[in-house]
Amino acid sequence: MSLPKTTREYRLPKVDGFHNLTLQEAPIPKLKSTEVLVKVHAVSLQYRDLIVAKGQYPLGQKENPVPGSDMAGEILAVGEDVKVWQVGERVSSNFAVDHIHGEVTAEIKATGLGAPIDGVLTEFKVLPEHALVRIPEHLSYEEASTLPCAALTAYNALLGGNPILKGGDFVLVQGTGGVSIFGLQLAVASGATVIATSSSDKKLEVARKLGAKHLINYKTTPDWEDEVLKITNGRGVDHVLEVGGPGTIIKSVKAARYGGNVSVIGFVAGAGDVSQLPVLVLSKAINMRGILIGSRTQFEDMNRLIDAVKLKPVVDKVFDFEHVRDAYEYQESQQHVGKVVVRVASN
Ligand SMILES: NC(=O)c1ccc[n+]([C@@H]2O[C@H](COP(=O)([O-])OP(=O)(O)OC[C@H]3O[C@@H](n4cnc5c(N)ncnc54)[C@H](OP(=O)(O)O)[C@@H]3O)[C@@H](O)[C@H]2O)c1
Repeated sequence: MSLPKTTREYRLPKVDGFHNLTLQEAPIPKLKSTEVLVKVHAVSLQYRDLIVAKGQYPLGQKENPVPGSDMAGEILAVGEDVKVWQVGERVSSNFAVDHIHGEVTAEIKATGLGAPIDGVLTEFKVLPEHALVRIPEHLSYEEASTLPCAALTAYNALLGGNPILKGGDFVLVQGTGGVSIFGLQLAVASGATVIATSSSDKKLEVARKLGAKHLINYKTTPDWEDEVLKITNGRGVDHVLEVGGPGTIIKSVKAARYGGNVSVIGFVAGAGDVSQLPVLVLSKAINMRGILIGSRTQFEDMNRLIDAVKLKPVVDKVFDFEHVRDAYEYQESQQHVGKVVVRVASN
């Protein structure tokens, strides 16, 4: 089979919104000896993709990037020194291509796909062999495309640090977006009791079906941290996946137990007064841990868990490659539960 020489890829020549997404043809770079050519089958979207399109990604982005951090695809060709991969294998790439193991560094952070370096919203992608992980067999490409950012972030928060989640722990997840739904599923798979919040009772019903034991609508119960304390008999939860940011973090700390863990992940809830935060954190001896996705090693560990319990990612809606803007619009509308996916290859 002759290899493709060109790829259709999206770029963001301007960054005042996703209406700038531009589909164009580009040559595929020649493979270096330790690189792999992947045919991209599916790409999943994140909240991050929306803010990259607005030029507001706080960790830095290049000019005119190919957006998208998360993909699943099939190996089409390998460089002459590639040892571990073969043509035809089904793979995902890690979010930061050089985050192989251990802690993040500034150099590793600068290798995040779809912002500081070109990403995966393209038909064919050349990647270093060390950036890839095998897809669990029971997952389709569309399902597997959801793992690199959302799932690995939740996994790292709950099971990738110290102290890690143990069976019987209480876990609080906020809203029903990508990270939170994976947090719910991974916590349930690990024997934890999950409390889920959402703006919508309909979405909470989905969370219940996925195994959340306790459900709180944060619109109708704005003091949801009190409700969490009631549910846990005043003790508070062991782990909070804090995706709201300044708008929710005070409540998250109030909802945690003494010595509990608050993983600082995101900022979907907007502004808030955080002046009480230091005193609240120290007065409950809270462990706060900033999360920056995860390493390839953690990704491999996570995939073993996903395989063991045959965890199925929640794919809310799939859009065609030609309709990427519609996919962004849907992601931005926050109608989704779990993940929004773009089907790149039709076979
Ligand atoms: N640090 C990292 O490594 C890392 C990795 C991935 C993501 N993130 C960050 O984590 C956050 C979530 O990312 P994502 O891709 O999972 O987002 P997403 O799928 O777009 O999730 C959006 C959902 O958040 C919920 N939400 C909105 N406002 C809320 C509020 N005030 N309180 C509670 N929930 C609220 C809504 O769910 P309901 O409608 O159910 O309320 C909404 O649908 C983002 O800030 C992202 O940048 C960080």
